[in-house]
Parts: sequence; C-alpha cells; structure tokens
Amino acid sequence: MTKLVIEGGHRLNGAVHIHGAKNSALPILAASVLVNGECYIENCPDLSDVAAAVAILRHLGCHVQREGHTVIVDASGVCRGDIPDALMREMRSSIVFLGAIAARTGGAHLSFPGGCELGPRPIDLHLAALRQLGLHIREEGGCLHCHAAGRLKGRAISLSFPSVGATENILLAAVTAEGSTTVYNAAREPEISDLCAFLTACGARIRGAGESTLIVEGVEALHGCTHRVIPDRIETATYMAAAAVTGGSLVLKEVCPEHVQSVLPFFEEMGCGITPWRGEMLISAPARLRRVKTVRTLPYPGFPTDAQALLMAMACVAEGTSVFIETIFESRYKHVGELMRLGARVKVEGRVAVVEGVEQLSAAPVECTDLRGGAALVLAALTAQGETEITNLYHLERGYEALAESLQGVGAVLRVEK
Ligand code: UD1
Repeated sequence: MTKLVIEGGHRLNGAVHIHGAKNSALPILAASVLVNGECYIENCPDLSDVAAAVAILRHLGCHVQREGHTVIVDASGVCRGDIPDALMREMRSSIVFLGAIAARTGGAHLSFPGGCELGPRPIDLHLAALRQLGLHIREEGGCLHCHAAGRLKGRAISLSFPSVGATENILLAAVTAEGSTTVYNAAREPEISDLCAFLTACGARIRGAGESTLIVEGVEALHGCTHRVIPDRIETATYMAAAAVTGGSLVLKEVCPEHVQSVLPFFEEMGCGITPWRGEMLISAPARLRRVKTVRTLPYPGFPTDAQALLMAMACVAEGTSVFIETIFESRYKHVGELMRLGARVKVEGRVAVVEGVEQLSAAPVECTDLRGGAALVLAALTAQGETEITNLYHLERGYEALAESLQGVGAVLRVEK
C-alpha cells in the first residue's frame, strides 16, 4: 500500500483478532539457527520485518517455509556466518542474529547496524557481553568481524541496563556454550520469556525467565520443536487505543491480558472500561476521554515505550493536559510534528512532552515517521474530522498485519490507495 485514506469520526465496534508478537517472532527465528532439526514456529505474524528475518535465514543456508501463520525452519544446512549489508539495513534488530550465528558457526561477519528512526541505537552492551562469553570481535570499516576459538564459554554477566536485544543475544550465545551463564539485570519483557520457552522446548536449560536474573546451563545441541508465539501486546494496545479514540467498544481475541497489565491503569484513568475474559478482552470507551496524568516509559513491567505514541494519540483528544516522559529512547517523539498537523497541541522539551487535549482533530496529509508513530497517526485519523491521508506506510507494514482490513472489519471508514 502507498497511501491510507481514513475518514474520521466513526465509532469502532466488533471483534479484532490479535496476531503473534513481532518482537517474539524475530528472536525466535534467529534462535532457530542454533537448532539441529525442524522448528515449527506457529502464530508467526506476516510482516515485512519477519520477511527480512526469513531472508537472513535463507542467506545463511536454512530451509524456510511458511504455511499460513506457521513458519518452518530447518537450519541443518547453515553454511555461512555473514549477513549482507542490505539485509542488515532492512531491519535494525537483525543484530540479534549475531549471538546465534557466532554460537552455531564459530564466526560471524555483519555490518554495524546504524542509527534508526528512534535515534542512535548503540550495541555496546551486546558486544561487551558476547566478548565476555569468549567471542573475539573486531570492529572495522562499519563491520563486525567475530570469531570464537571453539565453543563459547559461559560466565556471569551484569548488564548496566536491562536491554531487550542484549539479553536475547546473550541467551542465544549461552544456550550452547560450555558451562553456565548468569545474566544479572536481564530484561524481563514477555518476549524474553517467550524466547526462553522456545529454547527450552528445543532442549536448552534456562532458569529465571521473566525475572531479572537468568541462569543458562549450556547444552551440546538443540533439537527441533513446535512453539506458538505469544500474542502481540503492542498490537493489542493499538486496537485498545483505536476503541478509545473513537468512543467505541472492541473485543480483542487471542490476547494475553497479563502482558498488557502495565498499560491497563492508563486506559482506565482515561475513562475506559476493560474486561479480560479467557484470553479475550473487552474494551469500552467513554464519549470523551479524560487526560492521563503522567506516562513514564520504563523497562517491563513498566509502561512500554512502544505504547507511548499510542497513548499520546489518545491524550491529543482527551479532556485536560497529559504529560509524557520517554526514558528509554533518546528520540521517540518524531510523530509529534505529524500529530500537530492534525491539530494536536503538544510541546516537547527533551524527553518530556506535554499534550493539551483538544475537542476535535481535523484531517491533513501526514507521513509515518516510524512504526508506532505511524500507528499513532492512524489513531488520530480515526477520530479527526474529514479524510486524513497517511503515507510512508512501509513503517506500519513492519509491525501490523492486515491493519486496514482489521479496522474496516470493525467499522472504520478507510481505503488503501496503491
Ligand atoms: C526492543 C524492541 C523495541 C522496544 C525496545 C524497548 C525488538 C525487536 N525491539 O528493542 O520494539 O522499543 O526493546 O522495549 O524486540 N542500549 C544501549 N546499548 C545497547 C543496547 C541498548 O545503550 O547495547 C539502549 C538503547 O539505545 C535504548 C535502550 O537501551 O535507549 C533500550 O534498548 P533495548 O532494550 O536494547 O531495545 P531493543 O532490543 O533495541
């Protein structure tokens, strides 16, 4: 799609099916490189980021097939340890392949992931940890040249920040390392637990998934398994926000209410009613949202940075003034300028954004600036008066499967122009 045209002002009503989590599927696909045997990865969303991960797997020599939402990976043919620059650039999180490739092939050559739309994305924590596990890493000409003399060696690693990607890379390097690895201050995101569940199903020995200390006892080899990817908590929050901004009511199917616990109080503070029931969730919104006092993004189980732009779209049309404090990424307010084109009143000062809610946004042409910022524009367009044209949709295609169809199915009035 090249342009999404949304006519705002229609209440959403009905049911939406939530897909598997992108941020689980990507590290799990990377982990499949370590496995001798076939991995059946179910509930794998059909997204451009997932396609990029599959392209990397194929480049490495894996056999990969997709049957509906199941991706089947057979890594027995892995024959190389490099990732071409073009594939690295397609998806910043391809750095998570590093730990798996190094552990599997004893070497890895990939280009340094540059900055991205969220600002600089350093990988110093990834590299320091992998070095501690015995990987020799040379940084030269924008590339990482890595080799290991024999198996990697388990040891204790303390992260100065609970980085999601660094925790994943350590896990991937440690599961087949010699001896035991302990990760202190590990990330606790549900996607880390899902990666641990996948690895455990393949024969890895991991304790402490979902806690800040992870203990991995290295095993010699991993075997194939069948694993179902957890529901996407950010996609869930996105449809919750879509109900919220339109004063609507949605049933979200195949969700994990526990994983959205950190966002629920904010929806409730803004006046939404939420009823979780057996893997489903009903959200009903008031005619006008109330402001949210302060949203501070934090590592899990704090408020997710990936939901900051979504709540901001809600705050733009809420009664009163809301404050956002982004503590995870340096530059995660790129959507603000676009929201302002729609009539939002937002002031940004460093990591703080103050949003003065307005009664009505009005349509304008806008551009997606990043994945979640793009979703915020869709939300704003759903409530704005008139027809909003949204471009740069490739950002949305990275993380939302069938977004236009799902919204149309619950009463949104929109069209996709190719
Ligand atoms: C993952 C998610 C992303 C989410 C983020 C935070 C995936 C594919 N992406 O990204 O959607 O927004 O977690 O929940 O799962 N940092 C360093 N040095 C490092 C690594 C990270 O300084 O070596 C900093 C980053 O610049 C950032 C912060 O730590 O400011 C958080 O990054 P991290 O938790 O690593 O996020 P990602 O794994 O990149």
